[in-house]
Amino acid sequence: MKKFKTLLASALILSMVGCSQATPATTDGGDTGSADAKTYNVGVAIYQFDDNFMTLYREEIKSYFASLETDAVKYNVTIVDGKNDMAEQQNQIDNFITQGMDVIILNLVQTSSADATIDKVVAAGIPLVLINREPLGDNGDESYKGILDNPTVCYVGADARQSGTFQGEIIAELPDHGDINGDGKVSYIMIEGDPENIDAQYRTEFSIKALKDAGLTVDCLDDQVGNWAQAKGEEITSNALSQHGDAVEVVFCNNDAMALGAAAAIKAKGRTVGKDIYLVGVDALEECQEMVKNGEMTGTVLNDHIGQSHTAVDVAIKALNGEKLDNYYWVDYVKVTK
Ligand code: BGC
Repeated sequence: MKKFKTLLASALILSMVGCSQATPATTDGGDTGSADAKTYNVGVAIYQFDDNFMTLYREEIKSYFASLETDAVKYNVTIVDGKNDMAEQQNQIDNFITQGMDVIILNLVQTSSADATIDKVVAAGIPLVLINREPLGDNGDESYKGILDNPTVCYVGADARQSGTFQGEIIAELPDHGDINGDGKVSYIMIEGDPENIDAQYRTEFSIKALKDAGLTVDCLDDQVGNWAQAKGEEITSNALSQHGDAVEVVFCNNDAMALGAAAAIKAKGRTVGKDIYLVGVDALEECQEMVKNGEMTGTVLNDHIGQSHTAVDVAIKALNGEKLDNYYWVDYVKVTK
């Protein structure tokens, strides 16, 4: 994923970051009592505060920045809620530029708007760390030109193919390989996140690919968009269980929030995870780790918000220090079973 960057590009990053440091960002650091502290202004734009996973992520960004402060360096971190509205987020980025942020960390509402946003931020001479929603290149999974072309822009994330593969493997590795009724196929329903989001696309594709790669036959009973939301996960599962009854052997959810909803629907229909149905999610929210432990979920996949947020912050600080950035920084997923 890494690409060769020209000397010209390297020179550009140094001059741009140098520019941004030259703006009057120093304050008296009065709140901590250190008169000569250098304060960096950090703008963080999150696609939507009302998202379980991104809530953990943004809280960790804030506390990790705070933990890195010294008497000499302070981070003034402003985090804003895009409310899942791209126009709102564009305004927030415009404001960050006007306010003279020294670095911006951005969780895009729409990855299709990545270029417009990157252009603006780059033109303003502000380093940009994209997180969680990976913009895709023209040929699907190829690296994104807007990132490759700009040495002050990078993406920090996890490869969603890996999370989907782990979900499929969790089912394939069960003693009955997900074929509870022994009819020779794994009959499942799929509950997808936001369809524009590559995490949703890859998890949907690669979970099923892992089953097929394990030599299993699959049968998709239903595939619906739940937009990462718990209530939708519950509604879709409830409807699918009413329609298909015992035929449903596995519920795949692109994230844990929707799996929490699915778990409630499964219980309400008198079904029992681990006995007559299986349920997998992604994220490993604490609540879901407990459910895996006590059998209410078959498994989940750790979407490492701590590793990702710390990497995003470390990279942002690198940029503030005028260091050269890679284009991509990857954090691994981890399979979670009992
Ligand atoms: C997480 C979801 C979250 C989404 C937001 C995904 O990586 O698994 O829980 O809703 O990111 O973009």
